[in-house]
Amino acid sequence: MANNFAVVNENNGTPWVLGSDDANALILYMTSLSNGKQIRLAPPDTYKKDWITKGLAAFQSQELSLNGESCETCHIEGGRKKNLVDNKVIPDLKGVAARYPQYNYHVNKIIILEQQINLCLEKNLAGHAIPLDDELMVARTTYITWLSEGYKISVAKLPEK
Ligand code: HEC
Repeated sequence: MANNFAVVNENNGTPWVLGSDDANALILYMTSLSNGKQIRLAPPDTYKKDWITKGLAAFQSQELSLNGESCETCHIEGGRKKNLVDNKVIPDLKGVAARYPQYNYHVNKIIILEQQINLCLEKNLAGHAIPLDDELMVARTTYITWLSEGYKISVAKLPEK
């Protein structure tokens, strides 16, 4: 991850671990510098399309699931629509990427979008968390970030004084 290159010399030569509190704090700070700007995936169109397609396939597949469900079971229409399962509100995923890193009450820390996906994998698909840089994780995150294109980044907003 690009962030590692930036901080490697300021961290006594040790690359920061993706998903660690320190790395998340750094990502949160860097993302906050873009508050108000619209999300847009940077890669060239053909490359981007491949990853979005791969991400949607992963989103709809039961590959990492141990209960026969997929992300799509709850987050319907590819995550575009709110849903109600057993009287529980399932959020739609449009604009979600604009709000991460974010504080999460369940784990009581700041998490990145990939870690939220892992929480859903563990909690809602009865599966196992996968490495944050796993290809299936990158694909899912790319897909969800694409759903958020055009939304304004809004992280770590402090209350008005
Ligand atoms: C059994 C239903 C269910 C399944 C299956 C499920 N989720 Fe979720 N998801 C939820 C609920 C409920 C929430 C709201 C937060 C919470 O309670 O954990 C949520 C929250 C999220 C969020 C954060 C939304 C926000 O507004 O911050 C993301 C991103 C997400 N899910 C992605 C996924 C992905 C990717 C998968 C597949 C790997 C998945 N979910 C599978 C129920 C589900």
